[in-house]
Amino acid sequence: MNIIKATDYNDLSRKAANIISAQVIMKPDCVLGLATGSSPVGLYSCLVERYKQGDLDFSRVKSVNLDEYRGLTHDNSQSYYYFMNENLFKHINIIPENTHVPDGTEPDARKACEQHEQIIQSLGGIDLQLLGLGNNGHIGFNEPGTGFEELTHCVALTKSTIQANSRFFDKLEDVPTEAYTMGIKTIMRARKILIVVNGKGKADIVHKSFFGPVTTEVPASILQLHPDVTLVGDEEALSLCPL
Ligand code: F6R
Repeated sequence: MNIIKATDYNDLSRKAANIISAQVIMKPDCVLGLATGSSPVGLYSCLVERYKQGDLDFSRVKSVNLDEYRGLTHDNSQSYYYFMNENLFKHINIIPENTHVPDGTEPDARKACEQHEQIIQSLGGIDLQLLGLGNNGHIGFNEPGTGFEELTHCVALTKSTIQANSRFFDKLEDVPTEAYTMGIKTIMRARKILIVVNGKGKADIVHKSFFGPVTTEVPASILQLHPDVTLVGDEEALSLCPL
């Protein structure tokens, strides 16, 4: 695994944006796997900046997102569909039809998940999957205990994730309790993985995930077995790692 230490969040965002930029430049019709959450916001704005400067062209890029809340409509400001448009898609020249967020408006969970998995396959798989790391080691919405063999599936969110995500909602009761997420197997099939982590609060789980045993209790620990993972962390998030 390649570990890149950044001084702070801005530095982390630039370094991670460099990696995604390189992917887009080297393979203009690449398939990017994208994530939401607070960690990638800075890197998305770096990508937008570079697009505006004329250094990046997304016209042939395709994207698939990791996950989406079940039951939120596209115009709900907390849906991941909305997040991706606000933070990235509407500012760059990616073709909307080439962007694929799991369909949270599809009530048939099986249908929504199979469809997402089929899209990934029909695009020829993911070239570069971006991930954030949950406080409990989750990646996507794969909570501790999720089998490593899972493909895109519907999950009931744990209390701790609902609690963590409630900061984006008016009240705790508004946080959806289920989500559609790529499974660990879907994530592990990506040709390259880029994981971005910042802040002191993540130091312990970063250490457990990348220097502890590989266990379903820490879903991100499976990444130790992926052949091409780059972790970009700020000094605080990497502070417990023996680097
Ligand atoms: C987001 C996602 C989640 C987040 C994780 C970290 O699409 O799948 O796994 O990456 O919860 O969230 P932040 O970045 O907000 O700390």
